[in-house]
Amino acid sequence: MMKSLSPESIRKELHTKIIGRNIILLETIDSTNIYLKSLGSQQGPEGTVVLAEEQTAGRGRRGRNWTSQRGKNLTFSVLLHPTNQTQNVGLLSLLAGLAVTKAIRSSASLPAECKWPNDVLINGKKVCGILSEMVTSADNPPSIIVGIGINVNQTEFPEEIRETATSLFLESASYSASLKTFGSEILLPLKRDQNDITLCFDRVRILQKVLEEVEYWYIQYQLQRYEKIIQEWKRHCSMLGKTILFNQNGNIVSGVFADIAEDGALLLETNGTVQRIIAGDVTVVNPGDGYK
Ligand code: BTN
Repeated sequence: MMKSLSPESIRKELHTKIIGRNIILLETIDSTNIYLKSLGSQQGPEGTVVLAEEQTAGRGRRGRNWTSQRGKNLTFSVLLHPTNQTQNVGLLSLLAGLAVTKAIRSSASLPAECKWPNDVLINGKKVCGILSEMVTSADNPPSIIVGIGINVNQTEFPEEIRETATSLFLESASYSASLKTFGSEILLPLKRDQNDITLCFDRVRILQKVLEEVEYWYIQYQLQRYEKIIQEWKRHCSMLGKTILFNQNGNIVSGVFADIAEDGALLLETNGTVQRIIAGDVTVVNPGDGYK
């Protein structure tokens, strides 16, 4: 039996002032992003978290869907009302990916990495996807809904993503196995669910850590410390400086991942010219490097 989530257990020992102070936990919903939007988000308290045990129409980037087994993972959305609206909103996506990466590293001791714009990978496989959506209206400044899906304890994935998706559980199992081959005693510093005979990750602890990281980096954003966010993001991305392929509306462009601009855009260098990429999917040319 997987331990179920509750707003009380999440708020207990959650070291934040804004993010996750208001938590709405749903059993089943189409999508937490859609739900938050339908609440008329712009009036809702900043930092509101909508969490679901099951999404029936989870949404991914670029019109894709997001599937997640009921009760095993984390699927939630966070409401933000950034004060510095204008050109740096793209950075919020990077920030969310960075927050999840750092949270996985510290709470699960796994080598998570950022992939532009906001995926999180472990050993080249996707463990987290993020969909940020802007909500605008005539009367209020835009708000941002950051939807985060983290594969925590799921062990089976649909055929089409089996090669590219992973979970914290699967990665910790393969990490243990690789350590065993070196004959070491396995003492992984993982926080497990103590009531469960089948070991699994404690979703409450992972979520708390993610929310704490989101708050820290969001405060940096509000203080306009954009360079600090970018530097930290770059430290957690091994794709930088590598030759990548970028899918531009069906056209594949190849170039070097040169840098990240202040607004979170990817700077792609092709034949001496630098192109700004603000949305899309990128792939490292040689997936042997660890990225797919
Ligand atoms: C992607 O990688 O394509 C983004 C996936 C985002 C999934 C999360 S799960 C919680 C939130 N609600 C949704 O419908 N989508 C996001």
